[in-house]
Amino acid sequence: MATIQHLTQRTPHVSIDDLLAGFHPSPRFDEVSFDSYRPDPKQPSQAEAVHLLRTFASRVGQSEGGLFGKLFGKSKAKRAGIYLDGGFGVGKTHLLSSLWHAAPGPKAIGTFVEYTNLVGALSFRKTVEVLSGYKLICIDEFELDDPGDTVLMSRLMRELADAGVKIAATSNTLPGSLGDGRFAAVDFQREIKVLSDQFDVVRIDGEDFRHRGLPAAPEPVADADLLDFARSRYDGQVLAVDHFGDLVKHLAGVHPSRYRQLISGVDALVLHNVDTITEQAVALRFVVLADRLYDKDVPIVASGKPFSELFTPEMMAGGYMKKYFRAVSRLTALAREGQKGEVAL
Ligand SMILES: Nc1ncnc2c1ncn2[C@@H]1O[C@H](COP(=O)(O)OP(=O)(O)OP(=O)(O)O)[C@@H](O)[C@H]1O
Ligand SMILES: [Mg+2]
Repeated sequence: MATIQHLTQRTPHVSIDDLLAGFHPSPRFDEVSFDSYRPDPKQPSQAEAVHLLRTFASRVGQSEGGLFGKLFGKSKAKRAGIYLDGGFGVGKTHLLSSLWHAAPGPKAIGTFVEYTNLVGALSFRKTVEVLSGYKLICIDEFELDDPGDTVLMSRLMRELADAGVKIAATSNTLPGSLGDGRFAAVDFQREIKVLSDQFDVVRIDGEDFRHRGLPAAPEPVADADLLDFARSRYDGQVLAVDHFGDLVKHLAGVHPSRYRQLISGVDALVLHNVDTITEQAVALRFVVLADRLYDKDVPIVASGKPFSELFTPEMMAGGYMKKYFRAVSRLTALAREGQKGEVAL
């Protein structure tokens, strides 16, 4: 017997400590290390990246301040930040998580969006105060699609760097064959120009390790069969069963920094009647939920429209297209896992 719960009946309360505890590698990357990254011999930049990151890890927590540091500290090997620039699926998150595992704490790792949500939940000042006590801040999937957020994160990184915190970031990539949608290191450096001379750029070449472009969305399950299908598949496990429309409404009342807790303890998500989202704010919240589901590797069983139709064509071509493509790619992988038993890499 599966246990049935409803996300729409959960309103998680999250303390500052709980929020910060979330800045930890997701279950997917909990066990990775530099040793488990196998550089492609055909791509010398991969072994080089591991070498540079290991060196960077060894510097975390070491004081490089003082007059000597200020006069001589800006040489290439002494910068406070490292930026991993690479295409979709070349192992950026694997390497960033390996850096986190290798470095001394206190340390934090999260996506760009999670840090902006943290600032939203705590305030800018409080976030600076709390994170200034850290030795390393890892920011995955640095985004430049919202000028306000870019400025906010630039300011945050500046204050943290001044406090002696080491910072590592990765680029954000667009899945699929729709062009190399990664914003390049030059864009990153232009946008964070106040900080750019503090970052070493490490370029990682290579193919998508997962070898998937945008996989086809599985055929949604007929709504009448949905619950029986999920129950038989996830016998003895915890199912969160919700109507898509209700869930979308519920998300508006839960701060995105709490979505991790919202789905805690859920083994699979059963969604009735998925439909196209037409409002940008609603869509962006759903993107955050998709990331948290993917982090936790929660399979999805759904009826209604396939996830390829979750966002409107205008959204998929607009300023936030990277976010939407990534969310579709991730939700599709989770639906293939939930409905076809494939492992979502
Ligand atoms: N060289 C490698 N050796 C071992 N595992 C790898 C390697 N490269 C990638 N992987 C694995 O492949 C999967 C995808 O890698 P990862 O998520 O780190 O890529 P990414 O560059 O962050 O991708 P994205 O652009 O989607 O964020 C992960 O499970 C990761 O552990
Ligand atoms: Mg990644």
